[in-house]
Formats: sequence, C-alpha cells, structure tokens
Amino acid sequence: MAESDSNEQLVRHLKDVHAMEEQAIKTLERAVELSDDEDISGTYEEHLEQSREHSQQINERIKGYDLEPSAVKDLTMRSGAIGLRQLAEIPPDTPVKLAMHVYAFEHLEIAAYEFLLRIAREAGDDETAEAAERILEQEREAAEKVQSMFDRCAELLGEQQRQAEEEAPADDEQGSAADEEKDSAAEEDKDSAEEQGPAQSEDADEKEASPA
Ligand SMILES: [Fe+2]
Repeated sequence: MAESDSNEQLVRHLKDVHAMEEQAIKTLERAVELSDDEDISGTYEEHLEQSREHSQQINERIKGYDLEPSAVKDLTMRSGAIGLRQLAEIPPDTPVKLAMHVYAFEHLEIAAYEFLLRIAREAGDDETAEAAERILEQEREAAEKVQSMFDRCAELLGEQQRQAEEEAPADDEQGSAADEEKDSAAEEDKDSAEEQGPAQSEDADEKEASPA
C-alpha cells in the first residue's frame, strides 16, 4: 500500500474513532443522569472524564495531518455512517438496559482502538499507535468496571419491580373503576344494537362504507 493511501486510511479511521468518542460522551452523560445509584453513576462519570480526554487526544492526532477546519467540522457527521446513532437511540430506561448499552459501547470502542493500533502501525505513525494502545487499556478497564456492576444493576431492577408492585393496588382500584365504566358503556351499546336488529346494523355498516 502506498504511503498516501495508508495515511488516508488512518485519517478516515481517526475520524470514525473521534465520532465514536463524541457519541460515547453523550451516552455516558445520559447514563450519569439516569443512574440513581451513587456507585454506578460514579463509574459512568469516571469514564465520561476519560472519554473527553480520549476525544481530545484523537482530535490532536487528526490535526497532526494538517486537516482543513471543515474536515474536522464534519467529524460528528460520521457517527451515522458506523451505525452509532441506532445504538445510542435505544432508550435505556432501566439500570440493566443502561449497563448493557454502555458495556456494548465499550466493546465497540475496544474494537475500534484495536484497528486504530494496526492501521497506525501500517502507516508508520508511532505516536497514534501509542495513543491507541494507552486508550485501549482504559477502554478495557472501563468495560470490566461496567461488568462488575451487573450484580448491583440486577438487584436494582428487582427493587424497582417490588416498588412497582407495592404501588400497583392503588392503580388497580383506579383501573377497575375505569373498566367498570367502559363495561357498562359497552353493555349499553350492545343493547341498542340489539334493539335495532342485525339487518339495520348491516345496513348502517354499508352506508358508512360507501362513498357519499
Ligand atoms: Fe469508552
């Protein structure tokens, strides 16, 4: 592969990695916001800080290739190209879904840095390769930390479930009152339909179906 080709591949991959880190920052900001548990939100917050540094470091590597500002500006546009939007748009509405989501994202990042390391080596860019190695280690640690919270997340889900069940009787009373109302309305409808007779009902249906 010619040198310019391998540099081009490297810059393209750096842009993807940057877009991914920007998405990671958004995901982790949301994770911190949604987590009530102090330990869990602390873990997300810690990696959020790291992700901001990662994004900055990757940005520096891109600037090292003397890119025009417009080329840097379109970095965030690339997130759609590698399917990150879909992943980020799943609403993680429970501690379990949130942990699954972050854990999956960490592994996407691990793969992306594994490739960055290889592509940088191929292009002879030692500085980028070293940055990829350092970040890769932190991504692996982050994935392990998220995995270590799985037990606590499952416990929290159980607690949420119990809490919902305790609150359920009040909802049921309201629900059954509404159901009774609906039932009596349905009963009245049925009675009036029977009074009209089946022939009339069919006739009415036909009228509704045919254009005026
Ligand atoms: Fe990460």
